[in-house]
Amino acid sequence: MIRKGIILAGGLGTRMSPLTKAVNKQLLPIYDKPLIFYPLSILMLAKIKEILIIVNKGQLDQYKKIIPDGKRLGIKIEYAEQEKPKGLPDAFIIGKEFIKKENVALILGDNFFYGQSLTTMLKKCVQLKSGAKAILHKVANPEKFGVAKVKKNKILSIKEKPKKFLSDLAITGLYFFDNNVVKYASKLKPSARNELEITDILNEYKKKNKLSADFIGRGGAWLDTGSIDDFYKTTNFVSAIENRQGFKIACIEEIAFNNGWIKKKDILSSIKFYGKCDYSKYLKKIIS
Ligand code: G1P
Repeated sequence: MIRKGIILAGGLGTRMSPLTKAVNKQLLPIYDKPLIFYPLSILMLAKIKEILIIVNKGQLDQYKKIIPDGKRLGIKIEYAEQEKPKGLPDAFIIGKEFIKKENVALILGDNFFYGQSLTTMLKKCVQLKSGAKAILHKVANPEKFGVAKVKKNKILSIKEKPKKFLSDLAITGLYFFDNNVVKYASKLKPSARNELEITDILNEYKKKNKLSADFIGRGGAWLDTGSIDDFYKTTNFVSAIENRQGFKIACIEEIAFNNGWIKKKDILSSIKFYGKCDYSKYLKKIIS
């Protein structure tokens, strides 16, 4: 069972400069809320209540203004700072004290997931007792991601940003690991791009026959927020769905309320915290 999750929200966001010069990328808006709400909502939908958010050195104060701790959400949120971006597995080195002897989920701060069967899949993934699980999604540009070649749900090979076509199944930025991940991360050597690679960790599990995969099918969405264009595309997606349905995607208070983690009075204190805005109006609707 996985009860702990890490959101890696470091990174300099250089591709999005000058927007990211003063503000961390994950605090920029995807339509009506900061990007960080989306990965946070995924961990909460997976019923994970102990969360570590890793941010860039010097950016902690920005985060604490919007998510001071998890109290308003009935969860526990801790922060850690990353000196400089060293690759995704650094999350397990920084998060060692947080993880302790437990299994852990990792989600990248800039990954966006949406889909009807997502919650069912997440609930299944957190059942993981040993080994590792990667979540795959078909994409048109696999060379930009870690990629997995799969046969009958079994991962045959994995490669980080393959120049030659291997498969069109990208490895999304959502992973589930047993506690060995801490040990594997500490032994990693940097790759040619001078980063610790998550694909090297996945390969370590694969060698031991301990790697499995789950899929986000064509009815689900995994969107990128890597570039300014991607940011606007994801914003358009959220705006189209929210305005059509009247539901909000990644309303973290709504998820906490539905999970039974908070009560009406907590939502009221969130409304007070956000002030007069559409988001607060939506929160009012939830409890009325
Ligand atoms: C990272 C991982 C890659 C994964 C991607 C998902 O890429 O290395 O395997 O597919 O996240 O967003 P990066 O963001 O470092 O280019």
